Amino acid sequence: MLTLLAYFTLSYILYRICYGIYSVVYPYFLATPMDLHKSSGGAKWALITGSTDGIGKEYAIQLGKKGFNLILISRTLSKLNSVKEEILKECKNNIEIETITFDFTNANLDDYKKDILSVIEKKDIGILGLFVLNNVGLANDPDFLHEIDLQLNANIIIVNTLPVSILSAAILPQMIKRNAGIIINISSGGGAVAFPYFSIYSSTKAYINHFSKILRSEYSNTNIIIQTISPGHVATNMSSEKISYFSPSAKEFVEDAIKTIGFVPETAGCLPHQIKAAFGMLLPHFMIEFLIKNFAKKMKDAAKIRKGNETKQQ
Ligand SMILES: NC(=O)c1ccc[n+]([C@@H]2O[C@H](COP(=O)([O-])OP(=O)(O)OC[C@H]3O[C@@H](n4cnc5c(N)ncnc54)[C@H](OP(=O)(O)O)[C@@H]3O)[C@@H](O)[C@H]2O)c1
Repeated sequence: MLTLLAYFTLSYILYRICYGIYSVVYPYFLATPMDLHKSSGGAKWALITGSTDGIGKEYAIQLGKKGFNLILISRTLSKLNSVKEEILKECKNNIEIETITFDFTNANLDDYKKDILSVIEKKDIGILGLFVLNNVGLANDPDFLHEIDLQLNANIIIVNTLPVSILSAAILPQMIKRNAGIIINISSGGGAVAFPYFSIYSSTKAYINHFSKILRSEYSNTNIIIQTISPGHVATNMSSEKISYFSPSAKEFVEDAIKTIGFVPETAGCLPHQIKAAFGMLLPHFMIEFLIKNFAKKMKDAAKIRKGNETKQQ
């Protein structure tokens, strides 16, 4: 019995090591990136939430360069207009771009229908298909739950869980009909572990992981690709990180992330983060919790210093 248990444990550890190596080596070094138009069933349009900054903007640029027409959704009209101009210039006006001003703290379904779903329907996605990037997200500065503004807590729950759920539900029927489609859901490394001082943010990202996993199970007999991306730090407004190997620019991050579509259902999205995640897979849970707690404490202290400096400058 003991020998059997030892074999079982050894096989499990070997499986984790092999999967860790596969997730680092295959999508980033060996696989030939998919033709995203083909994999999405001939989609001509890509819809991106939170597309005027950071990761969402970079996906928009890179999908635009691949010839996708774009539906960009964010809160700020002026930012949408300038990102539209920028992308059209980069793509030499070879694509169409539609912008939608929508604040995702708004949970009203009638507004979703009026402002977003009606625009998508006009693009004839029933015939042409759609590539969907559920990217919009909201985070707090690291702190104890009771120290975070109540309205911000509520907004984080709404922005991080509602759009991904509603848009996926609304867009899946045409993908099912055509037996093809791509949905990418941006989660966070913070969704895989209990991340102190980000209690609600981390929980909402765990929701995205769980939700996407269930969708993959429900639609497993179709060719629809449903991918979860769980980045570590990317140097954007949200993270306030400077660019480094483990905090890549949004451009570097998305260049890597796009290569993984169709090859891994869940990924950290870029090579440096995937290397970290692969090491994480080998550690026992108590050690991960210990490391995360220390890391989160450092983030909280750094955020306090940053805020203090900002107040002094004002
Ligand atoms: N950066 C990181 O280190 C990191 C790490 C892990 C996961 N992520 C995840 O990656 C995603 C993108 O993050 P990011 O770092 O690229 O963020 P970012 O640079 O702060 O950009 C956020 C984008 O979302 C839009 N947005 C924000 N609130 C909105 C709202 N209420 N309604 C509509 N649009 C809204 C913003 O435009 P407007 O202000 O014009 O609305 C902007 O285009 C998020 O889901 C985040 O949780 C990021």
